[in-house]
Amino acid sequence: MPFEPTPERAKEIDDILGRYPNKMAACLPVLHACQEQNGWCSDEVIAWVAQRLDLGTAHVQGVVTFYTLFNQKPVGKHQVWVCRTLPCALRGGENLLHHCEKRLGIHEGETTKDGLVTLRSAECLASCGTGPMMQVDKDYHEDLTPERVDEVLTSLGCTLQGKK
Ligand code: FES
Repeated sequence: MPFEPTPERAKEIDDILGRYPNKMAACLPVLHACQEQNGWCSDEVIAWVAQRLDLGTAHVQGVVTFYTLFNQKPVGKHQVWVCRTLPCALRGGENLLHHCEKRLGIHEGETTKDGLVTLRSAECLASCGTGPMMQVDKDYHEDLTPERVDEVLTSLGCTLQGKK
């Protein structure tokens, strides 16, 4: 089924286009807006954006595949991004990703069977002084310990695995 933005989303995209000198320059924020509605950048989203911005489909596809923040397949209701860069690792975050994998029963890049969480790793999320940290959707969770990670995951509705 072709992608069609809601009237509100269409207005948001019109507003975005009004802030950029040309349509190509607005490619990133328009893709973000469409992904917010659709959950991921499907072929239909890419085709719609290409047509709306007068760009080739291959160009938009290239943008989507270059940036990790664009989802190339359906994702869970929540996205958990664990920072894996050195400053967080030095502050005890080395095992955070493994802890999340164990608790969620999935590997990095996978989504829980109930569709609740997609687990990802990320390079530095610019919160090094308060690491180890992870981003859940648009929120940062900082100074994490395994216990605190469990609390965060539980607050999302996750049933934790391997918990006594
Ligand atoms: S290294 Fe983790 S936020 Fe910078």
